[in-house]
Amino acid sequence: MHESPVSIRHYRAADLFILRQITTDSFGGVSLDMALEQKLGRWNERDWKARKADHIDDDVNQNPEGCFVAERDGEILGYITVRLDPLNSRGRIPNMAVVESARGLGLGRRLIVHALDYMRDAGMKVAQIETMASNAIGQHLYPSCGFEEVARKVHFAMKL
Ligand SMILES: CC(C)(COP(=O)(O)OP(=O)(O)OC[C@H]1O[C@@H](n2cnc3c(N)ncnc32)[C@H](O)[C@@H]1OP(=O)(O)O)[C@@H](O)C(=O)NCCC(=O)NCCS
Repeated sequence: MHESPVSIRHYRAADLFILRQITTDSFGGVSLDMALEQKLGRWNERDWKARKADHIDDDVNQNPEGCFVAERDGEILGYITVRLDPLNSRGRIPNMAVVESARGLGLGRRLIVHALDYMRDAGMKVAQIETMASNAIGQHLYPSCGFEEVARKVHFAMKL
C-alpha cells in the first residue's frame, strides 16, 4: 500500500500543542536548554523541556507566517520556524524538528528548502541557522542545503 504524500503548509494556531510535543520529544541531546540543566541542575520548577517548548510559542507569536508544518493524512510529522529581520534583509531558522519515525526521508531538507523560498520571497538576502556541536545530523544537513559554516560559539553559564 502506498503512503499518502507529505505536504508542507502554513502553521495554524491549533498546531501549537503538537509542535511543542514534537519539540520536547526531539531536542534531547541537541539543545542548549538540556545542556544547561545537565550542567547546573534545575533552578526552578521548570525543566528544559518546558523552556525549549516555549521557544516555539515565541517563534509562532513573532512570525506565524514564517512557520510551516509537514503533514501526512492530517498527522504533523515536522515543522520549521523562520524569523525575519527586514531591516538587515536577513532570515533565521530558530527551530525545526521531524518526528523520529519520519526522519531520514528528506523531510528536514524539504522544510529547509521551503523556508529558504519563503525568505527569498520576503526579500531576504542572507539566511542563517545554527546547531549544537553535538548535532551530527544538523552539521551534515545544513551544509548540504547550501549553508556555509561561519563561526563557532561557546556558551557559559553559572548558578546565582
Ligand atoms: C534535524 C532534523 C530536523 C532532520 O530531519 P530529517 O527529516 O531526518 O532530515 P533529512 O532526512 O532531510 O536529512 C537528514 C540527513 O542527515 C543525515 N544523517 C542522518 N543521521 C546522521 C548522522 N548521525 N550523522 C550525520 N548525518 C546523518 C541523513 O543521511 C540525511 O542526509 P542526506 O540527505 O545527505 O542523506 C531531525 O533529525 C530532527 O528533528 N532532529 C532533532 C531536532 C533537531 O536537531 N533540530 C535541529 C536543531 S538545529
